[in-house]
Amino acid sequence: MSLKNILYSAALLIALCSLALIASDSPLWSEEKPLSKPPGKNMQVLEFETMVQLQTYMKEITDSLGVTCKYCHEIRDFSRDSEDLHKNKAREMIVMTKEYNLRLAEFYKKFITDEEQLKQKLENKITCFTCHRGKEHPPATKADVEK
Ligand code: HEC
Ligand code: HEC
Repeated sequence: MSLKNILYSAALLIALCSLALIASDSPLWSEEKPLSKPPGKNMQVLEFETMVQLQTYMKEITDSLGVTCKYCHEIRDFSRDSEDLHKNKAREMIVMTKEYNLRLAEFYKKFITDEEQLKQKLENKITCFTCHRGKEHPPATKADVEK
């Protein structure tokens, strides 16, 4: 085989592999369109309609804790639950945060009667960032924030 042919075959192989990657329903390649079923194989507390929504949420919690995906995931299989990582703790925190937002809504409903005003208040939700501030361990005091 001539060098040109080898190079050509190599290029073809790379192109085919990338196509295969895009075509397999590897989550990270999916587009923003409602899927036949909600994305994710092992979703116990969250539910999204599209892969982009799932990714946007994951990016947000990653930034909120100042970590990378690997803090919670084995990159070769995001659906796996590994006790060595923080995925299960994160699940509990996700549930806790949802509960806080319900409690916050109950709190505001006690003294805000105007629907529009209530809606505005409730848009300001408690998120991972509210506590974590970009840190794995949320700062507890002002001195911690400045560290
Ligand atoms: C703080 C922990 C945490 C971080 C960081 C995190 N994730 Fe997740 N991720 C989770 C949890 C928890 C679930 C499962 C949610 C559930 O059970 O409903 C999940 C689920 C997923 C799933 C669905 C897996 C399946 O098929 O069941 C994908 C894909 C995913 N994450 C991608 C990412 C990517 C990409 C990043 C980095 C940008 C990331 N995650 C960062 C906690 C995390
Ligand atoms: C009300 C405040 C608060 C909110 C909201 C919150 N956290 Fe936490 N989180 C904490 C505290 C406090 C700890 C335990 C203290 C520590 O780890 O230093 C913690 C610990 C964790 C841990 C365990 C860290 C470890 O050492 O193993 C993970 C993972 C985590 N949070 C993820 C999240 C995610 C994801 C969200 C958003 C869905 C979230 N937290 C929202 C306060 C909060």
